[in-house]
Amino acid sequence: MKVLTVYYTMHGHTLRMAEAVLEGVGSVDGVSPVLRRVAEFDAVNKIIDNDEVARRIREEQKETPVCSLDDLSEADGILFGTPTRYGNMTAQMKQLFDSTASLWQKGALEGKPAGVFTSTATTHGGQETTLISMMIPLLHLGMILSGVPYSVPEMLHTEARGGTPYGATTMSGPDGALQPTQEDLAIARSLGRRVAELALKLRG
Ligand SMILES: Cc1cc2nc3c(=O)[nH]c(=O)nc-3n(C[C@H](O)[C@H](O)[C@H](O)COP(=O)(O)O)c2cc1C
Repeated sequence: MKVLTVYYTMHGHTLRMAEAVLEGVGSVDGVSPVLRRVAEFDAVNKIIDNDEVARRIREEQKETPVCSLDDLSEADGILFGTPTRYGNMTAQMKQLFDSTASLWQKGALEGKPAGVFTSTATTHGGQETTLISMMIPLLHLGMILSGVPYSVPEMLHTEARGGTPYGATTMSGPDGALQPTQEDLAIARSLGRRVAELALKLRG
């Protein structure tokens, strides 16, 4: 059984969260974790050429395959991660969703579990809305959404960090200087684990 984690990142925060999600998936016996990235736009690649951090992150991911429609249809469960863009998913992630019409027609993703994760710059920069923006196409595709329950110990807090019942989150800070906290990563691992366990149960 395969559970896919597919993410987009520009400055690496969502990648760190994806790695934690992947670890959570891999902690479930009988489930193989698969990591894929979302394709970058040519126009954004030109911007990245002049951004030292983004260039390093692009280099770091160059061996990670770009997610294909076959990757999506072969997966028994999928986790999607993207930074926010004005409270929404990135256009790069939306491009992946918008390429799934043939899967929608076949019902290829119906009944499979899904989870979502994101990174924002600021505390109130749109974590929940970004997660929900990914959930809308996932519901159209017939996927079964999983969030993060409050029984996960790191969830019940009032600190300046991530953790929403809609999915795993982190904050990069206005200048990108923050990194996911240990708690953010623990919640991301728990989401990956939960979707993998659901995939096993749903497949029977
Ligand atoms: C066009 C654009 C819009 C953004 N909109 C928001 C926003 O609404 N709220 C916010 O907190 N951060 C916003 N950001 C900041 C990114 O979400 C932040 O840099 C990101 O979480 C870093 O993720 P990454 O390191 O995985 O690329 C925006 C960034 C860009 C380029």
